[in-house]
Amino acid sequence: MFAVYAAEPNPDKPLDALRVGERPEPEVPDGWVPVTVRAASLNMHDLWTLRGVGIKPEQFPMILGCDGAGVLADGSEVVLHAVVGDASAYGDETLDPKRTLLTEKHQGTFADTVIVPARNVLAKPAGLSFSEAACMGTAWLTAYRMLFTQSGLRPGQTMLVQGASGGVSTALVALGKAAGMRVWVTGRSEAKRAIAEEQGADRTYESGERLPERVDAVFETVGEATWKHTMRSVKPGGTIVVSGSTSGPNPPADLQRLFFMQLRVVGSTMGTRAELANLLEFCDLAGIRPQIGTELPMADAAAGFEQMLAGETAGKIVFTR
Ligand SMILES: NC(=O)c1ccc[n+]([C@@H]2O[C@H](COP(=O)([O-])OP(=O)(O)OC[C@H]3O[C@@H](n4cnc5c(N)ncnc54)[C@H](OP(=O)(O)O)[C@@H]3O)[C@@H](O)[C@H]2O)c1
Repeated sequence: MFAVYAAEPNPDKPLDALRVGERPEPEVPDGWVPVTVRAASLNMHDLWTLRGVGIKPEQFPMILGCDGAGVLADGSEVVLHAVVGDASAYGDETLDPKRTLLTEKHQGTFADTVIVPARNVLAKPAGLSFSEAACMGTAWLTAYRMLFTQSGLRPGQTMLVQGASGGVSTALVALGKAAGMRVWVTGRSEAKRAIAEEQGADRTYESGERLPERVDAVFETVGEATWKHTMRSVKPGGTIVVSGSTSGPNPPADLQRLFFMQLRVVGSTMGTRAELANLLEFCDLAGIRPQIGTELPMADAAAGFEQMLAGETAGKIVFTR
């Protein structure tokens, strides 16, 4: 079948490991279902996979794509939940130490067909197109959990999102705005800040710019490049929610500020099946639609990868089939 896959790990030149070609049809184990993919979205996770981060060398070649939307054999339209894990240990499959995301052990969604455990398909809301629904399973689910499960923010409070144009960032802005937060965003260029404003951001700032006042919570996916600003931008007793470290994972901890200001730093990864169901309902009820900056046929996926590697995002990058 047609597939977009990583041939081997390439830490320095990830796009050299990208292949567009043929991979074997999957065999479907008991309890799993095949999904004919209609759309899937690109995530930074796919670039990490090409670099060999978060995946064992023996797992290559690996079909890329952590999320998607498609059709079951009976014709029902579905959204995929990418977390393959067991909720029985800690009541939350994202906490299962053996959980994997699609593309870490099991093949991904940039293909004609993907197989997933039967519990990992959810009905696609009729109001979301396949391309919109394909954005939900990774970036939007991560943003939903950061905001509604981990941050403790209440409507009327102020949040800062580091990064304006990325998949997780645009999701945080749209969800925060719809939930009644005051949404502030930093972005690296005027064009990127304009994207956040179109999504509903109340104010935007240059990366690292001093804010007029401290915020109740900061949402971090950037890491080293923005961490110092993050630590200085949150109110005493405020919260920093971290789900990524694109620019580097080891910023100075600034422990004195952490304990003196009594800050809470909370890690967050993906979300549960129940959170994905809630996210889909919320988007449907509130009429929220993901910002899609680029939509390409899956056969042209390389162009989307190049955009993400160059930091030229304008919301989600979606591949259709
Ligand atoms: N833990 C999880 O479950 C989970 C799930 C999804 C994503 N993630 C992580 O979250 C991160 C973002 O993923 P994504 O898919 O949203 O990627 P993306 O669409 O490529 O977005 C990248 C974002 O990072 C910002 N950025 C990058 N380098 C920066 C720098 N040097 N200074 C300031 N801002 C910078 C960009 O801001 P501008 O708009 O200003 O360019 C943009 O908003 C990745 O590290 C990814 O691995 C984690």
